[in-house]
Amino acid sequence: MERTFLMLKPDAVQRGLIGEIIGRFEKKGFILVGLKMMQVDRDLAEEHYKEHKGKSFFEPTVQYIMSSPVVAMVWQGKNVVSLAREMMGATNPANANPGSIRGAYAMDISRNVIHGSDSVESAEREIAIYFKLEEIVNYTKAGSEWLSE
Ligand code: PPS
Repeated sequence: MERTFLMLKPDAVQRGLIGEIIGRFEKKGFILVGLKMMQVDRDLAEEHYKEHKGKSFFEPTVQYIMSSPVVAMVWQGKNVVSLAREMMGATNPANANPGSIRGAYAMDISRNVIHGSDSVESAEREIAIYFKLEEIVNYTKAGSEWLSE
C-alpha cells in the first residue's frame, strides 16, 4: 500500500492546528502509521531541502522548519501521495483552493503549515530520513472494507 510523508510545520503547531489537519486525513480514510513530534536540527533541515540548496528561499525555509517543533507523520492509503497533495493545496497559499488545507489555514508561502511528499520516490526518501523502520507500524484499521473494494 502506498505511503507518504507529511509534516505539520512550526506554524501549524504554534497556531493549534494539529488536530484540525490530522482530522482531515483521518476522515478521508487514510491510515496513520507513523507519528512523532520533534525538533528538526540543521542537518536534518538541510537534508530535507537539499534539492533547493542555492535557491533564495533555501536558508529562510531551513530556519523556518527549525524554529519550533514539527509533527512528522507517515500516512498510508490508495494514491495517498497525490491525494494528500490535493488536500494540502498549492504550495503558495495565495493560490490554494479555499477548501484545501493551505487555502483554509494559511496566507503566505513562507508559512504554509504543511509539507507533503511530491512523488512516491520522494516519500520513500523523506520517510527514511525522518523515521526508523521500527517507528512505523502495520495494522488493519476497522472499517477499511467501507473505503474501497
Ligand atoms: S519549487 O518552486 O518547484 O522549487 O517549489 P517546491 O518543490 O514545490 O518546494 C519548495 C519548498 O520550499 C518552500 N518555500 C518556497 N518555495 C518557493 N518559493 C518560495 N519563496 C518559498 N519559500 C518557501 C515551499 O513551501 C516548499 O517546501 P515544502 O516543505 O515542500 O512545502
